[in-house]
Amino acid sequence: NNNAVSILLVSPLYISGKDAEEILPDALLNLISGLGDGKGIIEKEIDCVLSDGRSIPLEVSAAELKDEKEDFLGHIILFKDLSEVRSLRREVARSQRLASLGNLAAGVAHEIRNPLSSIKGFAVYFRERQEKEDDKQIAGIMIQEVDRLNRVVSQLVELARPVSVSKKPVSLSTVVENSLKLIERDASEKKIEIKKIFAQKELEILLDTDRISQVLLNLYLNAIDSMENGGTLTVELLEEEGGAIIKVSDTGAGIDEKDLLHVFDPYFTTKRTGTGLGLAIVHNIIEAHDGKITVASRAGEGAVFTVFLSGTGRE
Ligand SMILES: Nc1ncnc2c1ncn2[C@@H]1O[C@H](COP(=O)(O)OP(=O)(O)OP(=O)(O)O)[C@@H](O)[C@H]1O
Ligand SMILES: [Mg+2]
Repeated sequence: NNNAVSILLVSPLYISGKDAEEILPDALLNLISGLGDGKGIIEKEIDCVLSDGRSIPLEVSAAELKDEKEDFLGHIILFKDLSEVRSLRREVARSQRLASLGNLAAGVAHEIRNPLSSIKGFAVYFRERQEKEDDKQIAGIMIQEVDRLNRVVSQLVELARPVSVSKKPVSLSTVVENSLKLIERDASEKKIEIKKIFAQKELEILLDTDRISQVLLNLYLNAIDSMENGGTLTVELLEEEGGAIIKVSDTGAGIDEKDLLHVFDPYFTTKRTGTGLGLAIVHNIIEAHDGKITVASRAGEGAVFTVFLSGTGRE
């Protein structure tokens, strides 16, 4: 039927009159072949690879059809696309993780800041009392390090706190153009070409310019980091029902499949000096805009970050 055709991505014209072996994906065929030995109904969740190479999760029930005389008529397979359900499950798990991290962060920050301020106070005191240049320097380092700890703690709290945004209708292409100016030099030094593919139409979207610029900058910097030997950074703007889409893609190192689920997690980083907070903050900002961000990537094949922003300027 039509739903089956659209889930499995086969064309209705193509399947009429064909044998099941010719149209059904291998995963489903394997399931049927297990049916013969009188097992009745099989119910399972399977991953099914489609003709375009994508793999989708399916909930499948399969059984043999027989007439009154127990003669074999054929197979019946019922299946349900679980992609949406799976991605919601993931999203919920992530929000729960973040919420508990947030509480923990606020608590830890509070406990750490107080002792830090006394340590800094004493370090300043010692620096003033030391006669020897060496000792003054050491006290100076102590002060610097305390300041660094304070910054880390502040960032953590910033991440844990809900983001505040003040939205105004602005031209999306202007925001993107301005944000790209900030990285132009960095990119050309690293032999990275910047490509812009903007929608014909001027897209006016309700957003917080500063926050969205922060998002874009983080995405650009990650893309640049991933292209050590040069490449292309592409920013695409598309019109979308009720809003717009910004796509930032690169031709860099890509992301391992096992890491893909974690790139938005706070402190997840594969870089020696990374904080791993960039994409976590990006995710928070997009969430505060009631938008969405997704990532698609394969190791060695670059990465694509897709941001959906809702709310056009004329409402
Ligand atoms: N465009 C990309 N290409 C390849 N890997 C990426 C890309 N964007 C993000 N990643 C992966 O996701 C991880 C997390 O990114 P995130 O921006 O949160 O932190 P970071 O870049 O490591 O640190 P910071 O942003 O503080 O410099 C990165 O360490 C990297 O492994
Ligand atoms: Mg980053």
